[in-house]
Amino acid sequence: MDGNGRWAKMRHRPRSLGHRAGARAANLCIDACLEAGIPALTLFAFSRENWQRPDEEVGALMQLFLRALDREVDELHRRGVRLRFIGERGAFSADIRARMARGETLTRANTRLHLTIAADYSGRWDLAQAARTLARRALEGRLSPDAIGEAELGSALALSDLPDPDLFIRTGGDTRISNFLLWQLAYCELYFTDTLWPDFDAAQLRLALDAFASRERRFGRTSDQLASESAS
Ligand code: FPP
Repeated sequence: MDGNGRWAKMRHRPRSLGHRAGARAANLCIDACLEAGIPALTLFAFSRENWQRPDEEVGALMQLFLRALDREVDELHRRGVRLRFIGERGAFSADIRARMARGETLTRANTRLHLTIAADYSGRWDLAQAARTLARRALEGRLSPDAIGEAELGSALALSDLPDPDLFIRTGGDTRISNFLLWQLAYCELYFTDTLWPDFDAAQLRLALDAFASRERRFGRTSDQLASESAS
């Protein structure tokens, strides 16, 4: 969800205002996913690197998270959304952590949309925590190091209960993954747009979905193989 700061700067307003507009765009995007029947949406709300931003901006973002959790969780539950957070929670305030836990508990049986908020998350952190989990199991004698393959590592990562994502969208003009779901993006279709996140709406999502629909996903196979499989 990149471009909040520039969106505010273009309006000669503080960056925090851009983040507030970004939270509104996140809500619109959740609505649009529910309407389109998309089963899972993962939003990168705060990276581990974002703690390095000026204290004032980090403080404004924490206020925004707190308010959004207070305001939105019951409504998400009413709409059948399962809410989860991935990342290292320890650095968030007790208030925020308590609201995250409440949102997860309240919505855990919902299945209409799996909404994951990545907060204090990074793809490398995820890989490191998965490695620690597997190392612990090996030390306890519950897992042989020789048995560690892709399935075992994948199952120790965040989001291991969901299929890999099909489509990655980055707004704001940069063409980087920026330490998002590094493992899970192996075969994901990447979509980059210059649109700043606060301007990302249902029509923008439709453009991304149309672009996705036009991609040929070969997963290492040839076009001819795919054509003969779909004919049979
Ligand atoms: C990146 O834009 C955005 C962030 C670091 C924060 C994202 C947070 C939100 C959209 C609001 C909260 C969302 C939820 C789900 C509660 P940037 O600040 O790097 O923009 P810039 O590149 O224009 O400076």
